[in-house]
Parts: sequence; C-alpha cells; structure tokens
Amino acid sequence: MIRRFLQWLSGSKETAANADASVRKEAPHSSASGHPIPPAEPADQSKLDRAPPQRAPVDLQIGLDVGTSCTKAVLGDAELGDQVAIPINGGNTLPGFLLPTQIFEDDGAFSLDEKSGSIRRRNLKIRVLRASETRMELEKADLHELTAFVALVLRRILSWAGGELARRHPNRTPVWYLNVGIPSKGGTADQFEPTYRRIIGAAVHLVPGDAPITREGISAALARSETESRWMPHARIHTFPEAGAQLASIMFSPYKPEGCLLVVDVGAGTLDVSTMRVRADQTAARCVLHCCTVSHLGAHFLDLARRDGWPIDEDFENMLDALPNDDGVTPTARDGHTRAPDSFAEDCRGVLLPTVHRYRMRLREAHLNAGYRPWTNGLPFVLSGGGQRDPFYQDLLQSRLPEWLSTTVSEWHEAVSHGPRPGLRRQAFPLPPRFGPQALSENFDRFSVAHGLSLGVDGLMEFRESQ
Ligand SMILES: Nc1ncnc2c1ncn2[C@@H]1O[C@H](COP(=O)(O)OP(=O)(O)OP(=O)(O)O)[C@@H](O)[C@H]1O
Ligand SMILES: [Mg+2]
Repeated sequence: MIRRFLQWLSGSKETAANADASVRKEAPHSSASGHPIPPAEPADQSKLDRAPPQRAPVDLQIGLDVGTSCTKAVLGDAELGDQVAIPINGGNTLPGFLLPTQIFEDDGAFSLDEKSGSIRRRNLKIRVLRASETRMELEKADLHELTAFVALVLRRILSWAGGELARRHPNRTPVWYLNVGIPSKGGTADQFEPTYRRIIGAAVHLVPGDAPITREGISAALARSETESRWMPHARIHTFPEAGAQLASIMFSPYKPEGCLLVVDVGAGTLDVSTMRVRADQTAARCVLHCCTVSHLGAHFLDLARRDGWPIDEDFENMLDALPNDDGVTPTARDGHTRAPDSFAEDCRGVLLPTVHRYRMRLREAHLNAGYRPWTNGLPFVLSGGGQRDPFYQDLLQSRLPEWLSTTVSEWHEAVSHGPRPGLRRQAFPLPPRFGPQALSENFDRFSVAHGLSLGVDGLMEFRESQ
C-alpha cells in the first residue's frame, strides 16, 4: 500500500494525481509489533525464582526528519498513545530540539560536537539530494558524512530513550521502528530514496556501542547496508515523503479542518505545496490527496536570492558555500523585509498557482453540487516549516497568491450558486492533543513531519487510487 502511495506521489510530479487515503483512526493507538506477549508462568515458586524476569516487548517508533538546516526527531509510543519530541540538541527549549544538520571531523572520527581544530561539514542533505537529482555520481565523502550524521543522531536518540523508557515502560524490551522522511515524492522514479535507504541501512550498523565513527568504519557499514542489523532489521525501517508525513500528522489531529486544505511547508531547502480533502464517513476519516509539488525555493534560497539575485549564477559548490550558517531558529534574512527579487517570487508563483488552480479545477464539480461545498469562505490553508516565519512567504500566501488567483484564474471568482467565496483563509496548524513537550506547542509546525513519521508508517495509512 505504501509503495502505491509513493508511486502515486512520483506520478503526480508533473500532472495532478488523485489518491484516496483511508486512514484508520485507531491505528496510532494500537500495537503493531505482532510480538506475542509471553504468557504468565505456572505458579511453581521454585521455577519462578530461577526464571529470568519477563521483559515483554514494547513497540516504539522513531520519526526522523533530517532537514536541510536542522534535524528533528519524535518518539511515537503507540501503547501510551503519545508522541514526544526528542531533545537531540540537548535542551528543553526550541533550539534544544533542533539539531543543525552538520557534522565535525576530528582526527579521523566524526562527532556532532565541535572541538577546537575539528572541521565542520554542512549541507549534508542537499549534497546527496543534488547528486541523486542530477544523476551525478555521489561523492564518497558526502555519502560518508550523511551516514555518520544519521548514525550519531540515532545514538543520541537511543541514549536519551534509555532514561525515558525506564520511566515509561519499566522492565520492557523496546522494539524499535525507524521512519525517515525523504524530501521528494518517493516512488520508483526517485533517485534519492534508494541512496537514502543505503545510508540508513549503513547507519544502523554503526549505532551499537560507542566506538568512534570513522571513514573506514562507514565504508565497511555501507558495504553491509544490505544485511540486517539485529537491533533494527530492514522490515522496521521505512522512508516516507516529508509532505505525506505532514498530511498524516494533520489527519490524526482531532482539530483537523474538514473539507479542503492547502498545506505549504517552507523548509530551508524546499517549498512543499500539497492539497488535501478531508471528509468524514461512517468508518474512517477519508482524505483525498490531490496535488503535491516539491521545489527548491526554501528559505536558504530566498536568502541567496536576496543577496545575489535570482536565479543563482554560481556553480553548485560556490552556492553551497554561500548558504547561510543557520541554527534553524534565528532569521538569516539580511533586510528582514518581505522584499525579494521579482524573479524569485515568479518562481514561487510557478509552483503555487498551477497547484492551486489544478486543485480548484478538480473540485469544480464538487462546488457545482449544491449538496457539497468543499469550502465556502476562501480556501483554507496552513503554513508550516521554519521558513514560513519569514515575512516573504507570509505575504506570498496572504497577498500575492489571492491576487494572482483573482487576476489570472478566471473561474476563481466565477459565481456558482452556493459557490465558494474567493480568496484564501489561513488556519493555525492543528496541534495534536498528545504531542509533547508542551513548551514546543507554538512551534509544532516545525515538528509536524517528524510527528507524522512517529505515528508509524505501517499501521497508519492505506492508500488506494481513487477514480
Ligand atoms: N523566525 C524566523 N524567521 C525567518 N526564518 C526562520 C525563522 N526561524 C527559522 N527560520 C528559517 O527556517 C529554516 C528552517 O526551517 P525547517 O526546520 O522547517 O527547515 P528544514 O527542515 O531544515 O529544511 P527542509 O525541509 O527544506 O529540508 C531555516 O532556513 C531558518 O533560517
Ligand atoms: Mg523540513
């Protein structure tokens, strides 16, 4: 089922595609391991005294969102029915949960912490992504660095989880699942997904123990990436499109808006635009995912455009060097205003307008049906991702897009009886009721991809083609 969703996503790159996602509401709260809980021993006291303590398994999901600028992780605990952000950057306020996606190399070993004399490597994700998009050969160094990063992040997660588990599930044995977001639509045409799976497959081999992670060790792990690791077999590793994970996060919120929704995620690297439709039926919440586009128009590119103009007339390496040093929290924009070259806004228009237009066309029939109105008072939209805090993107959605729609898309204002009111209506990003810690509530949108992943890909959704 997941494969079909991925295929659908990749198929929808150029043309609008349509898929029905039936979402089992109870899924995140049910155990998915299939591990039998050992039956109680017979009441033979001498036998009980000799027997090792029973440690029943407990399923735990790691939702890992490796971002262009910073990485987020959420632990999904289906048994307790909650999801908690993991302080992978060591603190209990927002920056403590946002780990810059960078690594330090010191004396042949990799670390997430800077030491004097260590060499910093940045842009780990974008390098690997670019190589797969352009079908260039991936530099061994880039492959090594992202592998080391994922391995070290997983070590951090597990070391944090030790204490957390003792509190949550004393005397239980964790059965880990790993769900990682991919910055594209996945599917057979996706070049990044197989590379990323190889990286993750190698990284899980490097996790156990605390031996230094070196290039030799990474080479050996990459050679073994096809073989199973004991603590994290392949069957428990999933990759899932970031945009899809975010929609899953919204779908499970009791505050999800019913009807149509435009979701715009502004990351450091990509601008992801997706549209969905949520309606209730008797057995399940049904969500029709219409269109999804992923483009390199995120906050880092806006920053470059503001500085050097757009499009960028630089080779890739120079461009990477020019990307801002970003802690993921402090705005990097130079002028702090909405201004950006018109050509950058035009490129955003080229992504947003056709997506929304296609969506509107698909829903036209529904609008014409007096009994069903997908939206009545402007198309609702949510903005997410760190980059949406930049005034440029807010202005893009709140002023420019409505204007483009009204001037360019003639039927947008077309009067139909019971028709939708034109324009767009911003909604708050729905906050799931069992997401913690509470200190992150205001910034939940930053964690929505990792949150969706932490719900557990397997039990979460069944996708099927719609007519
Ligand atoms: N208050 C703010 N004002 C402007 N920009 C901000 C603010 N806070 C964060 N950002 C920007 O948000 C970006 C990070 O957002 P996010 O964590 O969603 O991206 P990412 O997941 O790393 O990237 P991607 O999803 O593209 O891989 C950074 O470029 C950061 O500079
Ligand atoms: Mg992101």
